[in-house]
Amino acid sequence: MRYGFKNAEEVKETSLKYNLHSWSVQGKLNPAVVEKAEGIYYYTADGKKMADMSSQLVNLNVGYGNKDIIDAIKEQAEKLAYISPAYAIDCRSKLAEMVVKAAPKNMGKVFFTLGGADANENAIKIAKLVTGRYKIFSRYRAYHGSSFGAGNLTGEPRRYTLEPGIPGFVKFTDPYLYHAPFPFESEEQATEYYLGQLRDQIIYENPDAVAAIVMESVTGSNGIIIPPKGYLQGVRKICDEFGIMMVCDEVMAGWGRTGEYFACENWGIEPDMITFAKGVTCGYAPLGGVIVSKKIAEFFDTHKLDCGLTYSAHPLGCAAGVACLNFYEKEHIMDKVKERGKQLGALLEDIKAKHKSVGDVRYIGLFSCVELTKDKATHEPLVPFGKDPEGIMGKIVGMLKAKGFNTYSHEACIFVCPPLIITEEELAENMAILDEVLTEVDKMV
Ligand SMILES: Cc1ncc(COP(=O)(O)O)c(C=O)c1O
Repeated sequence: MRYGFKNAEEVKETSLKYNLHSWSVQGKLNPAVVEKAEGIYYYTADGKKMADMSSQLVNLNVGYGNKDIIDAIKEQAEKLAYISPAYAIDCRSKLAEMVVKAAPKNMGKVFFTLGGADANENAIKIAKLVTGRYKIFSRYRAYHGSSFGAGNLTGEPRRYTLEPGIPGFVKFTDPYLYHAPFPFESEEQATEYYLGQLRDQIIYENPDAVAAIVMESVTGSNGIIIPPKGYLQGVRKICDEFGIMMVCDEVMAGWGRTGEYFACENWGIEPDMITFAKGVTCGYAPLGGVIVSKKIAEFFDTHKLDCGLTYSAHPLGCAAGVACLNFYEKEHIMDKVKERGKQLGALLEDIKAKHKSVGDVRYIGLFSCVELTKDKATHEPLVPFGKDPEGIMGKIVGMLKAKGFNTYSHEACIFVCPPLIITEEELAENMAILDEVLTEVDKMV
């Protein structure tokens, strides 16, 4: 083994002794030791083959072992591993051009970061610089990162440890139709209701103070909440009415996850900014960014862009990004996601019809989840909001992992977001495992 370790057990023990692991009580951890990976599978040291049905943290879109990206990083590391963001270098210029060209037509330039949270931090800053206003609207059922600004944009319980939060950060309610306060007759009616509430809230908060509305185009971690018909277009209209910047967080939903480069394209809207990370390099190197409209880009022709990071537009990240975006094109990944997405949707509908523990399934492209319920009639979630005192969701994820299906859960949702390269057979085989485990879950509710 490398680094002088005698065996996998020693790797784990050393990790538990010295690594602080994210979002966990450290004393309860038992991390799997991973030795190798290829395609949609990774292999643990105890010989288990795991299908990665969450693409790790919904970032490993091209799966493991992508030779194009690996070679690009190697080549860049040998040529020029680092040079400050002030310099123009080939992979930096190329990736910026590719990102802007992949984005909606109104987009003009990109500022590169290392990941999603700092992309959102910089979007907030840019919105404040451009508008001269300070209030930022975002939604309750949202995750935008764990750093201070992004963590305050986040609406769900991962925000609480940062409170009292940033003055002027205002939360509003998501169009989460499965848990709507009353049944709507149509998606259009739901849209009208939620947009009406948002518009009123902006007026009560003083529209002249509101710099931006930040929202995930399709909500990810908080349960694949797909906007009802006309909703995103309606938010765009409200932003235009009051001179507010519309920022779409595409960190999870972007780069092909929904079958389009950016999820907002599914509704034909042009945001003022798009934040992204994850699928731009698929985890082969850290990279994120903020794409800004041509109008915002022009603003900074004559005003100072007060943003900067030592590793902004890092050469290894940019080289990985160019190779990754070329791979999406070369392999027609957007078409493949649309095709596989149809299969996934049909399998999920079967699962919903069959299992009493499944309240709802939501899917777009290869971005999907199964929401578990105690009662199909009342929609009561299997675990209450923000709590899982008995660790039920953890147990269900454990049952899936024991059968070789890797994923994670949040609230009462189990995510199914496999690498975008998954084949028809691989998807069918692994959804059969989910079906088996849900039969066990049915007995628990
Ligand atoms: C929608 C969204 N925004 C922002 C982030 C934060 O990204 P990062 O973990 O790269 O900081 C995430 C991470 O999962 C996300 O899903």
